[in-house]
Amino acid sequence: MLLFSTDIDGTIFDGPETAEIFAAFWKNLRELPEQPLLVYNTGRSLDDVRGLISGTSLPSPDFIIAGVGTEMFDQAEGRLMDEWKEALSGNWNFETVRNLVSAEIEDIEAQPDECQNEFKCSWYYHDKNGNDLDRIGKLIESAGLEAQVIYSSNRDLDILPRQANKGNALRWLASWRNIPLSRVAVAGDSGNDSSMFLVDDTFGVVVSNAEDALVSAVAGGNAYLSEEPCARGVIEGLSLHLGLDTQSLSHDSHTSG
Ligand code: GLC
Ligand code: MG
Repeated sequence: MLLFSTDIDGTIFDGPETAEIFAAFWKNLRELPEQPLLVYNTGRSLDDVRGLISGTSLPSPDFIIAGVGTEMFDQAEGRLMDEWKEALSGNWNFETVRNLVSAEIEDIEAQPDECQNEFKCSWYYHDKNGNDLDRIGKLIESAGLEAQVIYSSNRDLDILPRQANKGNALRWLASWRNIPLSRVAVAGDSGNDSSMFLVDDTFGVVVSNAEDALVSAVAGGNAYLSEEPCARGVIEGLSLHLGLDTQSLSHDSHTSG
C-alpha cells in the first residue's frame, strides 16, 4: 500500500478514543519500509478538517481531499491545489444550481454557508429515495449543467460538478503522485464514500457501522466488510490486507486505557 485514502467521521473518528487508536496504528505503519501516504477524504470543509486535526490526536495527513472531492490540500507544501480546481470548472455554475433547487424542490433546506463552496452545493433533505434524487439530477441537467447528486446518512445531499466526488479526486491525486491504483486502499462508512470504492483496483474497508446504502453500493466489488466498527474496523481490514499482526498492533494502540 502506497496510499491510504480514508473518510474521517464514522470511519477513523467518532471521538477522542478512536482518534488515538487510529493514530497509534498509523504511527506503526509509518515505520514500514515503504511509508504509505495518508489522505483524509471527507465531506467536511478544508478549514473544518484542519481544525479537527489540530484539536485531536488524528495524525497529520499528507493530503486532504475535502468537501466531497471539491477541495485538495497538499499538507507538506501547505497549499491548496488549484490544479484540481481547474479540472472541476467545466459546465458548472453554483448560483444556477442553488437557485433552481430552492425554487423547484420542496422539503429541502440549504446547509450552512460554511458547508458550501463554489463546487459544492449542499442541502438537508430527509429520508428521500432514488426517485427524489433523480428528479433533482434531471432538473439540473435541464439547465445544461453537468452535475452529480450524492446522498448520505438519509439526510445530506451534495450537488457537485460531474468531475468531482471523493473517488475522482483520489484517482487524480494518485496519478499526480504516480501511484498505481492497485497500491491504493480506501475506507469509509457512508454514501459519499461509495465513489472511492468504485475506483478500479483499489482495496477498500467498509467499517461495520457503515450505512446500508454504502454496503449495497459496494456489493460485488472487492471491499472488505469489517467486524469491528470505526477505527478498529479500519485497523482490522488494513491489517488483513497488509498481512500485519493485528494482535501486536492492537496492544500498541491501547493508549487510552
Ligand atoms: C459532511 C459535510 C456536509 C455533507 C456531508 C455528506 O457532513 O459537512 O456538507 O453534506 O458531509 O457529504
Ligand atoms: Mg463518514
